[in-house]
Amino acid sequence: MGRVAELAGVSVRTLHHYDEIGLVRPSARTAAGYRAYSAADVERLREVLAYRRLGFGLREVAELVDDPATDAVAHLRRLRGLLLERRDRADAMVTAIERELEARARGQRVTPEEQLKMLGTRLYDAIGGAYPATRRTEPRIAAQIWDALGDAQTVLNVGAGTGSYEPADRHVTAVEPSAVMRRQRPAGSAPCVAAAAESLPFEDRSFDVAMAVSTVHHWGDPIAGLREMRRVARRVVVLTFDTDEPGWQDRFWLTRDYLPEFAAVLAEFPSLAGMADAIGARAEPVPVPWDCADGLFEAYWRRPGAYVEDHVRRAMSVWTRVGPKAEQRAVRSLSEDLESGRWAERNSDLAGLDAADLGLRLLIA
Ligand SMILES: C[S@@+](CC[C@H](N)C(=O)[O-])C[C@H]1O[C@@H](n2cnc3c(N)ncnc32)[C@H](O)[C@@H]1O
Repeated sequence: MGRVAELAGVSVRTLHHYDEIGLVRPSARTAAGYRAYSAADVERLREVLAYRRLGFGLREVAELVDDPATDAVAHLRRLRGLLLERRDRADAMVTAIERELEARARGQRVTPEEQLKMLGTRLYDAIGGAYPATRRTEPRIAAQIWDALGDAQTVLNVGAGTGSYEPADRHVTAVEPSAVMRRQRPAGSAPCVAAAAESLPFEDRSFDVAMAVSTVHHWGDPIAGLREMRRVARRVVVLTFDTDEPGWQDRFWLTRDYLPEFAAVLAEFPSLAGMADAIGARAEPVPVPWDCADGLFEAYWRRPGAYVEDHVRRAMSVWTRVGPKAEQRAVRSLSEDLESGRWAERNSDLAGLDAADLGLRLLIA
């Protein structure tokens, strides 16, 4: 044990702990009868330590190394993918930090959006803690997604977050790059791999279907991510947003009257047609029910008072993306209009609607 600890650069106490919790048990015996690590134990220990170093919790590591479908080569591939991604992100962060240092030295202001951009796909490590307050399964949207999954038995959920739309009756594997989001997955939920859509650590056609819900707009390269989903699964189901329709900014009163900055957030987002083409999908509208249980950006279209609540906005990434100035202005203006009755006057046509088409689309390939 001492020799293995020395070679691996960990303490003997750590090895004892792994032994106690059944994570890595030395299964061989020395001639003198002491317990020792077999070659297979060392291989397992190496995987455990590598995943630990990448930030996985002990429970997640146990799930990963106990997965009978993953052999040593598959673990190495996954680890290589995770490390390359981490190196990319570290490079990007170093560059961004250097740029910010130069800007600060010149006395220039760095906007909140620029500060967050540095974090890249890690945005959810910064804002994910507020997510579970209002984000949960909306049964009518879930039913539409699960219907699109057809008879698929194995499901990959990309950008899974806390797993709101994972079907309970299929074999689900989740992919989620944010450690904060992974930690918030309820006990007993599907195993979750730390990876990003653009580089999925799975063999071609490993799943019946790959799904992604309310996440594509966060990906560094949405089209590359969609192609990856297409590669690893026979079918693809994606809940995303349509910016092709002319005047889409006016579909929702919140964007139209209070937060025109939302359009800039999606400025570089690919067209719905482009995304559909990338995976050979058809699109169907996903109406948002008036009492939508999942606190997504469009959820409260008939309950405007919700947008004035801090905890509601903190679970929607849009508000972080537009920055505090736009947020404060929008909230102030909406509060005034709610009080004066102007909002109700302008949006009287909504009162009788049970659901609204606000641009959410399900791509089915
Ligand atoms: C709005 S949440 C949606 C979570 C979940 N699908 C749901 O519907 O509740 C967006 C998620 O996408 C994840 N994400 C961001 N960049 C990603 C990437 N490049 N690949 C995969 N997921 C990503 C975030 O960490 C976050 O958990």
